[in-house]
Amino acid sequence: MSKHTVVPLNEADPIEARVANLLAKMTLAEKVGQMRQLNASEGYPPDYLAPFIQAGAVGSVLNQADVDIINELQRIAIEDSRLGIPLLVGRDVIHGFKTIFPIPLGQAATWNPELVGEGARIAAREAAAAGINWTFAPMIDVSRDPRWGRIAESFGEDVFLTAVLAVAMVEGLQGDDLTSPDSIAACAKHFAGYGAVESGRDYATTNIPENELRNVYLPPFRAAVRAGVATLMTSFSDIDGVPGTANAFLLRQILRDEWGFAGLVVSDWDSIRQLHIHGLTENDWDSAFEAVTAGVDMEMAGDIYGNHLAALVESGRIAVGMIDAAVANVLRTKFQLGLFEDPYVDPAVQPAAGSEHAVGMAKTMATQSVVLLKNDNAALPFAADGLRSLAVIGPLADAPYEQLGTWIFDGDVGLSVTPLAAIRELVGDTVDVRYLRAMENSRSRETAAFDEAVEVARSCDATILFLGEESILSGEAHSRANIDLPGDQAKLVQRIRKVGKPVVAVILAGRPLTLANILDHVDALLFGWHPGAMAGPAIADLLFGHESPSGKLPVSLPRVVGQVPIYYSQKNSGKPASADNIVHIDDIDAFAPQTSVGMSSFHLDAGYTPLFEFGYGLSYGRFEYANIRTSAHHICIGDTVTISAELTNAGEVAADEIAQLYVRDLVGSVTRPVKQLAGFQRLRVEPGQTVTVEFRLHTDELAFHGRDQRLATEPGEFHAWIGGSSATELRTEFRIVASS
Ligand code: GLC
Repeated sequence: MSKHTVVPLNEADPIEARVANLLAKMTLAEKVGQMRQLNASEGYPPDYLAPFIQAGAVGSVLNQADVDIINELQRIAIEDSRLGIPLLVGRDVIHGFKTIFPIPLGQAATWNPELVGEGARIAAREAAAAGINWTFAPMIDVSRDPRWGRIAESFGEDVFLTAVLAVAMVEGLQGDDLTSPDSIAACAKHFAGYGAVESGRDYATTNIPENELRNVYLPPFRAAVRAGVATLMTSFSDIDGVPGTANAFLLRQILRDEWGFAGLVVSDWDSIRQLHIHGLTENDWDSAFEAVTAGVDMEMAGDIYGNHLAALVESGRIAVGMIDAAVANVLRTKFQLGLFEDPYVDPAVQPAAGSEHAVGMAKTMATQSVVLLKNDNAALPFAADGLRSLAVIGPLADAPYEQLGTWIFDGDVGLSVTPLAAIRELVGDTVDVRYLRAMENSRSRETAAFDEAVEVARSCDATILFLGEESILSGEAHSRANIDLPGDQAKLVQRIRKVGKPVVAVILAGRPLTLANILDHVDALLFGWHPGAMAGPAIADLLFGHESPSGKLPVSLPRVVGQVPIYYSQKNSGKPASADNIVHIDDIDAFAPQTSVGMSSFHLDAGYTPLFEFGYGLSYGRFEYANIRTSAHHICIGDTVTISAELTNAGEVAADEIAQLYVRDLVGSVTRPVKQLAGFQRLRVEPGQTVTVEFRLHTDELAFHGRDQRLATEPGEFHAWIGGSSATELRTEFRIVASS
């Protein structure tokens, strides 16, 4: 059993004895100190923090990444405080530390948990070398609203894919042994349902019924807890009237009582004080009470706990036992990290950041994250011997910082290789590459350079446009109500289209964008998210066929923002839309109101399907699925059924395909989605080759929280599909019976 498997507290565990022994020595002030995390960024140097640490009034610091400063802060804690308790040192290492990998949404597009895990392992190693021993990742909020800036940090819209990648990142960050010098404590965040903020506006209210919470937003956190994640972070958001930082239903009933989590819960930044702003509390005194009562063990970057917890105990409003339980969670994490034995970091023992291995993995992940959305007339791949000249145009072709994406505090921009640089490197002097930025940035409305861009395109055999959003347009507090390409980028595409030569667009962005206004003006379209340091070499290899695109969408791309939220695993409703029962607004005059046509769930001006669906992605191979089979049409609860199909590469290029398994539970004690991802596999298929793809499905994997909120698999009829996207129609059926 993995060291990190969550088990009920075992008093015989030496760590429990050490926690109890240390706790017994602590004063109330020292206990409260362990529940405080202070900002240690450049405005708060060691000589400012020293008095707090020496007094035992700090349990953790964050936002310091200089190993010498961190070692000094640890020295003060260990040598100058009464009990010598080491510090947790936290930092956001979201998709890399020095070596920046694709943003998590791009990592999700790889559908490759092994790769995501390896990227996290590298990030942990680089961060640990700088003295970091705790990171606030993975962010595993299921996100179905591309207006939300933080969708960039998520693994997308799907519960299953998010849960699989959550485990991969937790295990990558924490390694096989949390005491190892290259392991750091992970933090599953933001607990819970933050991705459901109204209108995608960050920090806004969420209204999530318990059944939706349990079936959609909680499963990735449950998977992370089962994988042994050391810590969780509360969500800023108001969840059905109770903000995450005061939500005892989540923090005590679900997390502790139902899941048996024994780790540390940290607030989000200053989110305890914000309880008053939410309107949940009269004042900071009440905010401290609500948070500690709900089960928040440590306050991030705030002074509410420091100012009020001791008085709450001394006044009798809370029992000291509640403080002891919280401090035990903090101390347990420190013992699990081995900080009492080995608190200092010798950077020399770790490989230097930006190693050849790290950069190589960043390129592999970037390559697998890019999704080919369109490739008409086999515009791609370019044949280098078929091109004499190539126009590279756009604000994101040569933007080494922007390609890194959001949350890259410590990223080494010097490691970035841009698409322009990589294309020039790849073609050498065989192709004349002519570059024009054409726009100062993605938001620019200045079109004066468009005439020149048209001339550059006219002078070349083909044009590649690098468009999208800069890093600053995504991430925390950066939601957008309009998710078209910003500025006049679409106008630039239309101008270049008129030249009449092949046009390829590469989109770099931190969220799905609405691309309907450029789709018909390009021959090929690649979506690269923010691919990180190795964006250039990855994209160049794909453009010139050294690699075939294999990415699959982890999130739907809407036609228009008015469709949001739009996601594949929706409920059927009582009047589901289909191609034959909707009406387009342009045809509305021909529509006779008395007919039943059009009485279904759709938009007159957008229909009911996204522009590109979850799981979609083209390849330079051409994949066909056939002959789906089930190993049994009747199974009992507790059985396993095998669903298989044949996958053929009918193209001329060997390529990877991510085959996907979807299921539907047709009838439940609560309504169930029309499709749910239940498995996926990456397969390499040679031209002309047919392989069998096989999924084994245990009835437990079909369990959901029913009308009584209990987790159970309910007997009944199921559909199962296999295919290359959530739109697959290759279907079989089986029935689960209660018992044989
Ligand atoms: C933030 C974010 C959280 C992050 C923390 C520390 O406001 O919500 O995800 O880990 O601050 O930077």
